[in-house]
Amino acid sequence: MKKGFAPIFIAGYISAIIVFVGIIGFYWQENRKTPAQPINFSHQVHVQKVGLACTHCHTTVEKSSSAGIPSVQTCMTCHKAVATDKPEIKKLTKYWEDKQPVPWQRVYKLAARKYVYFSHKRHVKAGLECGNCHGNVQVQAVIKQVPKLEMGWCMSCHRAKNAPIDCATCHK
Ligand code: HEC
Ligand code: HEC
Ligand code: HEC
Ligand code: HEC
Ligand code: HEC
Repeated sequence: MKKGFAPIFIAGYISAIIVFVGIIGFYWQENRKTPAQPINFSHQVHVQKVGLACTHCHTTVEKSSSAGIPSVQTCMTCHKAVATDKPEIKKLTKYWEDKQPVPWQRVYKLAARKYVYFSHKRHVKAGLECGNCHGNVQVQAVIKQVPKLEMGWCMSCHRAKNAPIDCATCHK
């Protein structure tokens, strides 16, 4: 009778360890590229609630290699009047008054930018959606890096879409 329980305890113990490791792994993965930001800016609020287009703030995404992060000026066109009593907007206004840019932390950044060429313009002109590469930004209160920006990720889409895959396309 007593003996019969031992394997169950051992199995329970092992499963507990597996679940624990799994949870740690999940949080580590979730936090992989989610740095703390100086202001709690929410894409969900501005895209879904306020109804702004991505290009309202990322103004160069269709015409240059980089998408661009908006200046404080862009925010202040609304926030001189909107939600001015809120602590986060007071922080924003302080940057504005001090004539300082908000030190936003980058989420999507090619580690290998020195030897990899990437351009937003080409991809947007080819008809790709922001969501093909950035996930559902409009529902993210805090922006998260969805795909890993590895060569295999670029390559698999290039193969699927018949885009060039010779090395010189991305390595100049
Ligand atoms: C077109 C107008 C507009 C622009 C541009 C805009 N916002 Fe907003 N923002 C709003 C509105 C409207 C709300 C309130 C939404 C709601 O009802 O919760 C808001 C809410 C916020 C909040 C939450 C305030 C709170 O605590 O309730 C923050 C923080 C914020 N905006 C930051 C920014 C930053 C930073 C920028 C520039 C990158 C920016 N906003 C650009 C209209 C704008
Ligand atoms: C009201 C202005 C505003 C609008 C509209 C907006 N963004 Fe942003 N976006 C920002 C700001 C400010 C940051 C930097 C802060 C952050 O990462 O949350 C940012 C960061 C990002 C980043 C991460 C960049 C990096 O490497 O740090 C991506 C990707 C992005 N936005 C995509 C989008 C997409 C896609 C849309 C449309 C669905 C959109 N944004 C609409 C203001 C905006
Ligand atoms: C083919 C994939 C792809 C598409 C489509 C795409 N992006 Fe990106 N995005 C990237 C990559 C890769 C980076 C990192 C670039 C780097 O480090 O130079 C990036 C970086 C960014 C950044 C950080 C700042 C910057 O200037 O690079 C923002 C903001 C951004 N994207 C917004 C957008 C928006 C808005 C759209 C849609 C209009 C979009 N992206 C479409 C792949 C994509
Ligand atoms: C979701 C699909 C997708 C992803 C992911 C993607 N690409 Fe592309 N890429 C395309 C398509 C489609 C084209 C063809 C555009 C055209 O026909 O002008 C293209 C074109 C290019 C070009 C221009 C090719 C030329 O003719 O000179 C470069 C450079 C490039 N991609 C680099 C990258 C890099 C680097 C990454 C990863 C960081 C990446 N791409 C990720 C779909 C993708
Ligand atoms: C569609 C774009 C694209 C094409 C085509 C491409 N690469 Fe890459 N490559 C990348 C990106 C992006 C990285 C950076 C990956 C990272 O930072 O993890 C990279 C990284 C590398 C590295 C560094 C080691 C590594 O794996 O991170 C080598 C070596 C390399 N590429 C060789 C090649 C060769 C050889 C070819 C041709 C067969 C090729 N690449 C074609 C996008 C591309």
